[in-house]
Amino acid sequence: MRHASWERQANMRTCVYPGSFDPFTIGHHDVLERAIAMFDRVYVSVLSNAAKHPTFSVEERVDMIQRMVDAEEMKNVVVTHFDGLMVNYAHAIGADYVIRGLRATMDFEYEFQINALNLHLAPDVDTVYFMARPEHSFLSSSAVREIGSMGGNIKGLVPNSIHNIIAERLRKP
Ligand code: PNS
Repeated sequence: MRHASWERQANMRTCVYPGSFDPFTIGHHDVLERAIAMFDRVYVSVLSNAAKHPTFSVEERVDMIQRMVDAEEMKNVVVTHFDGLMVNYAHAIGADYVIRGLRATMDFEYEFQINALNLHLAPDVDTVYFMARPEHSFLSSSAVREIGSMGGNIKGLVPNSIHNIIAERLRKP
């Protein structure tokens, strides 16, 4: 008799890569590429939580990530947004795995906590972590927002395919 996890392997492997992505950076891009190599289908899903007061609207974030996916012809990537509990969304789209990136030390405590809570809520949804490359470990969306809004150069910090949209938008007062 085959084990249940074997049955799962026989099916399409779907994961969700959730985040604020305010905006999407080359660190996120690297994690996404690594997830694409491991999974049959990757949902990049923007949290639409107005309480976080994002700089970019949900529509802007979904639109710019979709532009990048189209421009780079990334296969098997679906760009969406979600509200409410992430594990409920994972169940709704049939994702067995969540993808998260981990930068040196600064993300660990937070990720450790949300992993424990998510596992409590949904033991069938596990999380896979990709360690940020050393050259991305300094990078954050908030740093990109700060540099861009003060007229600094964000080339090399965000994907080339959406650099202009992000830079122009951040320059607006
Ligand atoms: O890019 P971020 O802001 O670090 O992403 C955080 C995110 C979206 C993964 C997290 O805030 C989340 O999953 N929010 C949805 C609400 C939820 O499921 N909360 C329970 C775990 S604390």
